Amino acid sequence: MKHTISTILRQKAEGDKITVLTAYDFSTAKLMDEAGVEVILVGDSLGNTILGYPDTLSVTMDDMIHHSAAVARGTENALLVTDMPFMSYQTSVYDAVLNAGRLVKEGRAQAVKLEGGRTFCPHIKAITEAQIPVMAHLGLTPQSVNAFGGYKVQGKDETGGKNLIDDALAVEEAGAFALVLECVPADLAALITKKLSIPTIGIGAGNGTDGQVLVYHDMLGIYGGKSPKFAKVFADAGAAMRNGLASYIEETKSGAFPDEEHSFCIDESVIETLREYAEK
Ligand code: KIV
Repeated sequence: MKHTISTILRQKAEGDKITVLTAYDFSTAKLMDEAGVEVILVGDSLGNTILGYPDTLSVTMDDMIHHSAAVARGTENALLVTDMPFMSYQTSVYDAVLNAGRLVKEGRAQAVKLEGGRTFCPHIKAITEAQIPVMAHLGLTPQSVNAFGGYKVQGKDETGGKNLIDDALAVEEAGAFALVLECVPADLAALITKKLSIPTIGIGAGNGTDGQVLVYHDMLGIYGGKSPKFAKVFADAGAAMRNGLASYIEETKSGAFPDEEHSFCIDESVIETLREYAEK
């Protein structure tokens, strides 16, 4: 079944939790799509997980387009959402529409995600009016790391909580079809989820949201950096990869690899002739 913004909205109405994971390449996207993940997000977290930056701030439009197009080639059923990178929309509404358009035209995204609340409602409205669905993102918005002074849980006090509620209502009003809530206290995320008619997708926001999103490298234990508290490791692929790499080195050094099973053979008469030929 093809997942679209309509099916995602229906999932909220039916209480069917929405599954979202990040992907940055063709084969991972294909695995996720075949497993039945409903939304694949080409997150600008690729700055950390793929490009090795300490944050998402250096990620460019070209980076996002390159990875989004690869993910699109591996995605058949999932809804493909691609992040708008830092400074691709903050500069103006015009830039926001232009760059959202590039993510769709060149990156084959089916929707875009951008960080921020009331300040960016004109941008969300304009992109939506250009027929590009927008997923909003509130709470710990990593592109604001310098303004926040670090990666911190958001909305813990009364003012912060009220701001989050008002921002959530505003992005819904502006036309966002879904809202990511990152690092928000569980009870506040549940409260916002109840107030909105669009689905909320939580990451570090408890289980009262309409869906969950995780960074794929975190949930499979393959990210070398420090994983956040909320990132449950569902399968330790990192350990499996480290074991595989160690075995490859050991067997190659000892000559155990490649064995007959992993080699090609030739007729004895042909190799005999070739030996004679080579000796001449
Ligand atoms: O960039 C990303 O991966 C994200 C998710 C963590 C929601 O924005």
